Amino acid sequence: MNTHYDYRYDTETLKVENLTKVYMSSMGKVVPLKNVSFSVNKGEFVSIVGPSGSGKSTLMNMLGALDRPTSGKVFINGIDIFTLNDSQLSTLRNNTIGFIFQSYNLINRTTVLKNVEFPGITGGMSDKDRRRRAIRILGFLGIRDKAKFKPTNLSGGQQQRVAIARALMNNPKIILADEPTGNLDTKTGEDVFGLLTMLSNKFSRTIIMVTHNPDLAARTDRAIHIRDGTIEKEVVNVEN
Ligand SMILES: Nc1ncnc2c1ncn2[C@@H]1O[C@H](COP(=O)(O)OP(=O)(O)OP(=O)(O)O)[C@@H](O)[C@H]1O
Ligand SMILES: [Mg+2]
Repeated sequence: MNTHYDYRYDTETLKVENLTKVYMSSMGKVVPLKNVSFSVNKGEFVSIVGPSGSGKSTLMNMLGALDRPTSGKVFINGIDIFTLNDSQLSTLRNNTIGFIFQSYNLINRTTVLKNVEFPGITGGMSDKDRRRRAIRILGFLGIRDKAKFKPTNLSGGQQQRVAIARALMNNPKIILADEPTGNLDTKTGEDVFGLLTMLSNKFSRTIIMVTHNPDLAARTDRAIHIRDGTIEKEVVNVEN
């Protein structure tokens, strides 16, 4: 039974329309994404699966407004995001979207705490509130005792938790995770997946996760299969 359906109104949080990306390189034209369309509802946990090179990260980078498409649209809460200018786009990215990468992307020369605090700096929070919130999130993720460490002195799973904590700092409605368990052992990957599931179920966060792990994909609400830059099929996992 779907226990988290109560507060999952069928409100569309994210909508992708005919998204296409073309790269021109010295090797010629590459089209990693061709006319991709789908939408994701509030609180839904969607996985993106597909072979290496099929366009998953290209898609994620556009959902997260890290890159602009060649054509097509992305709507977030009804806003056509690529009509925004760069500064509006970075505000949207900072306040609405949390991005988690396979390689964590932490700043290694500073502490775990500062890494987590970082997105809060542009969020207008006072220094004290920011610190308090960062510590609370680290506690929530079970790594409060690592706050003063440098990221390189943590295990892979702990570093990925720091990246998740950083992604949660501004309380984003949408969490985009590109292979968040890709560098982790099975047990640690399971823990990270459990965290994302909880954020979806208990906190109604919209989650889109790229994974090469079919078992994890089968445990999300819906799996979007990408092949050669197009959607091959979508599988709704009714039992989840
Ligand atoms: N900046 C770029 N310039 C040219 N081609 C690119 C660029 N970025 C990505 N590509 C090409 O686009 C295609 C899709 O790449 P993408 O990173 O989206 O794949 P992916 O599905 O995430 O693969 P993986 O599972 O290995 O992470 C690849 O063929 C890649 O070489
Ligand atoms: Mg990728």
